[in-house]
Amino acid sequence: MSATARKVINRRVRYEAEHAASKEEGHPFFPYAMFHDTVVNLLIVLTIVAMAIIWHATAGPINHAHPTGQNGAFGELYQVKANPAVQSTEPRPDWYFLFLFELLRIFKTPWQLIFATIIIPTIMMVLLVAWPFLDRGRDRRLSRRPVGVAVGLTTPTVLIALTLAGSVAPGAVTGTALTGNPKFDSLPATQIIASANCATCHFFGKVGASGPGPSLAKGPPSKPNVAAVEQQIKNGGGPMPPFGDVLTQQQITTVANWLWGLKTGTPPSQ
Ligand code: HEC
Repeated sequence: MSATARKVINRRVRYEAEHAASKEEGHPFFPYAMFHDTVVNLLIVLTIVAMAIIWHATAGPINHAHPTGQNGAFGELYQVKANPAVQSTEPRPDWYFLFLFELLRIFKTPWQLIFATIIIPTIMMVLLVAWPFLDRGRDRRLSRRPVGVAVGLTTPTVLIALTLAGSVAPGAVTGTALTGNPKFDSLPATQIIASANCATCHFFGKVGASGPGPSLAKGPPSKPNVAAVEQQIKNGGGPMPPFGDVLTQQQITTVANWLWGLKTGTPPSQ
């Protein structure tokens, strides 16, 4: 018998002896395991309570100079107050749901959606419960459990990849979907318009609010030239806020040319 084989058998024998001994003497679930769980859970709850207290004690009060509240040790006191005038928002999940967000983007038709959101997760849950009954192998060595190891590595890899893809995915108001015309939607102006939230007040052909601003689906309806459009974006006017502080001159020019392109039907060169 080779030395390696003897070693493996020795290990097995040792493990089985230990296993039998601990089975003999035993550690009953109550109170040992329960005490252990109680202590750990108590520590976790105390940590959460402590973090909540520190967060609240270090964050300053809300005032108008600090619309989001002064930052405390764990972030601002409250997020920006809800604005009832915003008619279209950019819904994005927190990071731990980004994989689902991306999954929903991959599956488009209603049938695929049912498959992705109900059928596949259900199969996964059933498999998870059934696994101890399906996999009766006694081997614990990773190299002897290729299927288990493959599943164990693939699942987190897929989840991480979906999360990363979801984190950079364009949202509903961003990029591709603004006008429904790919010649315009592929241009950088759409990113600027999305970041400045112009679609909360203007309609762009596919996306946007029906008011209070006029529809820009066919370009600016009343401005006589590109310079006047730039002026409107830069200084605002009427109920529209100025964007001179928010956007650079370069960005304003890009957006104005793009809007003018919608009017003439010819997309700007960039
Ligand atoms: C808070 C709502 C609001 C936001 C946000 C907003 N606008 Fe406006 N916009 C308006 C309103 C209202 C008018 C009409 C102004 C008037 O009647 O004088 C207008 C007018 C305009 C016009 C002139 C259209 C015309 O020919 O009469 C342009 C161009 C325009 N907006 C572009 C933009 C761009 C680009 C953005 C994003 C950077 C933007 N707007 C963001 C409300 C808004």
